[in-house]
Amino acid sequence: MEQTVEIKSKITLKPSRFGKKYFVKTFGCQMNEHDSERVSGMFELDGMQKAESEDNADILFVNTCTIRENADDKLYGTLGQLKKWKSQSENRKLLVGGCAAQKDKNLVRDKAPWVDVVIGTHNLTNIINLLNQSEDWGPVTEIIDEIENLPTDAPSIRESEFSAWLTIQIGCNNSCTFCIVPSVRGPEISRRPVDIINEAKQLVNEGVKEITLLGQNVNSYGRDLKIDNKSRPYFTQLLEKLNDIKDLERIRFTSPHPKDFKEETIHAVKELEKVCNQIHVPLQSGSSSILSKMHRGYNKERFLDKVDMIRSILPDVSLTTDIIVGFPGETDSDFEDTMDVIRYAEFDSVYMFKFSPRPGTAAYNMHDQFIPKEIIDNRFDSLKITQTDISERRLKRFIGTEQLLLIEKISKKNDLIYSGKINSGQITHIAKDNLNLGDLIKVKITDSTPFFLKAEKV
Ligand code: 5AD
Ligand code: SF4
Repeated sequence: MEQTVEIKSKITLKPSRFGKKYFVKTFGCQMNEHDSERVSGMFELDGMQKAESEDNADILFVNTCTIRENADDKLYGTLGQLKKWKSQSENRKLLVGGCAAQKDKNLVRDKAPWVDVVIGTHNLTNIINLLNQSEDWGPVTEIIDEIENLPTDAPSIRESEFSAWLTIQIGCNNSCTFCIVPSVRGPEISRRPVDIINEAKQLVNEGVKEITLLGQNVNSYGRDLKIDNKSRPYFTQLLEKLNDIKDLERIRFTSPHPKDFKEETIHAVKELEKVCNQIHVPLQSGSSSILSKMHRGYNKERFLDKVDMIRSILPDVSLTTDIIVGFPGETDSDFEDTMDVIRYAEFDSVYMFKFSPRPGTAAYNMHDQFIPKEIIDNRFDSLKITQTDISERRLKRFIGTEQLLLIEKISKKNDLIYSGKINSGQITHIAKDNLNLGDLIKVKITDSTPFFLKAEKV
């Protein structure tokens, strides 16, 4: 029997792989994780079922990352190992996509000719077509510079039933000198509000309680849409619309850019009941001269002003950031400025990275100012020690408080324990007892470890 499945009018598939099993391996950021959910969605519409691991999969999709050099190294190591996987059965198909594929273009094919499909970040919705082509004609590479369909035009199979990513914007218009993202993800494009709202409603119908809005620079959302009402930031208006969706319980977003961070956004977090009490503002460096070399569009003082503004409106907000240690030319005194901001801002957690030169970025050409590895390692370690202390102290502030906990999954380490998040995003464990996945319940925080909270039902 021939079946045709229509996905949001743009993608039409005739499922042809009933009984085949797929597995998806994802490297990198939330964008990639969400793209992988979309690929899983398209695979399932094509009739495939998810395998428990790559060992019992017929089709394997590797979604690659290229943000730092070690991500690249990992990719080519992984592809080497997968040659064996591929050779174990003639029917196996290996597909490689994501940012490294987009950046390296023919290099993936040259280095790993056993890959059946190499696909870029802009044409993911064409993946089944390419898989078909590779079966008919042999290995195929399709990487395009223009964006065809937004990846959002495909359905997705999510890891969690209750919590979902929702892309509001793709690409990035900034030119941070260390960052490869604009060249692999293209210019910033906002999705239309109506599409975002419809997708959110659809997710709620499927049982989702929490959505996380995704974009490289969410607070510039909508700048490229020709919307009439310019009086207030589009992002805030979008949050208001999402807040009105019945039965949606929680809204998170990541990431705003400090330079475009508006007071209205902080008020939206405070006043819109469903928007969670959590803000991620990527600082990158506390030194004004390094920030200028990074092209970040703000300096130390302006960043500290934003922190003060956030804390004055939302005293108990959970604040997180990203730091790059060892940007070219970073002196001891520049690094001290970063430590200064770290001690002052008291972030709940910090994602720390050692500078990694990416070919094609401006910072890659600053060879003469590269910082020796030992210095970067030492700075990284002292940042880690200072921040670990702060993070542990920040977690402890919840002990004894009552919180609303969304139970999301069974703990990987102990199947008598559920794991979820409280409103401000901290991972929290609770004994299973009579609770169910998806419950949103009042709990009391009883203890903390360096990485998560423990709770009991009230
Ligand atoms: N080297 C180190 N860290 C980087 N990041 C982005 N590019 C680089 C790079 N070349 C970090 C930034 C960004 C996060 C997602 O990754 O901190 O916010
Ligand atoms: Fe990269 Fe800067 Fe764009 Fe973020 S804002 S994706 S760091 S260029």
